[in-house]
Amino acid sequence: MEAVQESGTVKVADRVKALKSKGIDVISFSIGEPDFPTPAHIVEAGVDALRAGFTKYTPSSGIPELRQAIAEKLNNENGIEADQSEIIVTPTKHAIFMTIMALVDRGEEVIMADPSWVSYEPIVRIADAVPVPVRADEETAFRLNPEHLAEKITNRTRMIIINSPNNPTGSVARKQEIEAICDIAKERDILLLSDEIYEHIIYDTRNYSPASFPGMKGHVITVNGFSKTYSMTGWRLGYLHADRGLLEGIQKVQTHSITCATSFSQKAGVAALKGPREPVQRMVSEFRKRRDLTLKKLREIPGIDIVAPDGAFYAFPRYDFDISSEKMAEYLLDEAHVAVTPGSSFGSFGEKHFRISFATSVENLETGLDSIKDALAKL
Ligand SMILES: Cc1ncc(COP(=O)(O)O)c(C=O)c1O
Repeated sequence: MEAVQESGTVKVADRVKALKSKGIDVISFSIGEPDFPTPAHIVEAGVDALRAGFTKYTPSSGIPELRQAIAEKLNNENGIEADQSEIIVTPTKHAIFMTIMALVDRGEEVIMADPSWVSYEPIVRIADAVPVPVRADEETAFRLNPEHLAEKITNRTRMIIINSPNNPTGSVARKQEIEAICDIAKERDILLLSDEIYEHIIYDTRNYSPASFPGMKGHVITVNGFSKTYSMTGWRLGYLHADRGLLEGIQKVQTHSITCATSFSQKAGVAALKGPREPVQRMVSEFRKRRDLTLKKLREIPGIDIVAPDGAFYAFPRYDFDISSEKMAEYLLDEAHVAVTPGSSFGSFGEKHFRISFATSVENLETGLDSIKDALAKL
């Protein structure tokens, strides 16, 4: 565990608390969850399940009704030939954790973009395996370049993690890039872990699931969840899909760790998948407005460069000042009273960046980005 770093976001959260306790108003751009309530019909389904006494263990892989709804979703929306027997219902982060624990051996290598989501690297380290970062900064518009990735492959490479749309950069992989990565995986017999949790939060482009490409089913573990699309972070509900051969080990980890996902959350999950799409569409169109506002305001700040995010609800600006991203986050908190996440939390190529979550109100974005502009003008 000594090799596992504490999350860089914790320090910022502690400082925010300290400022707030002094009565100082802090605007937070550091939150990784939609600021919308869970849609009412989903809440109702959860409450109904509780009232009906649906409060006991469920089958370890999830209730058949939900697994069936997920299989249909994967077939219809993602073009993945999925059967309900190939699905495990579990919180999304746990799906990633179990997949790596079950399928990656000590000393094996796992390739991931740098920058990428804060937990991939620590999970790989917890499995006593070796994280292998691939530079994916502005040079490649924050996308994982298949040629750069191929250079990192050795005979110990076991897995490649793809996260599109990406946290923290909002980049979305192009079809040719996914195809090229799939070809590498097939040729070198490497697994792909595809984290598609932001798939519906996407602007002007579309996402591709690696498991939908020919011959890929036996190579891909697709991970997805309800947290972001349906604003259900606290319900702790997600799932993974893989070929039965890969599923067996993961299933053992599930039964010996959390047993099953929360019973009434699973009923709510069925309502999410089968219910109206309007709440999701409304949320995404609101995120689009905020993304455009965030981009416009960031582009007005001297010393800031920004690649437009195609998905998720994050902007990842690069700054041209000679201080580390941890110090920058501290400075912005103290000087502008705005909390951002330091870019280095996401990997070494995240240095000289900070992450802004635009899952907050237009007023907060207006005020917070103006304060950032004023604070940076003093540097
Ligand atoms: C890229 C990515 N994957 C997985 C997760 C985990 O999602 P959950 O909270 O649903 O477990 C997150 C959450 O922030 C994320 O950003």
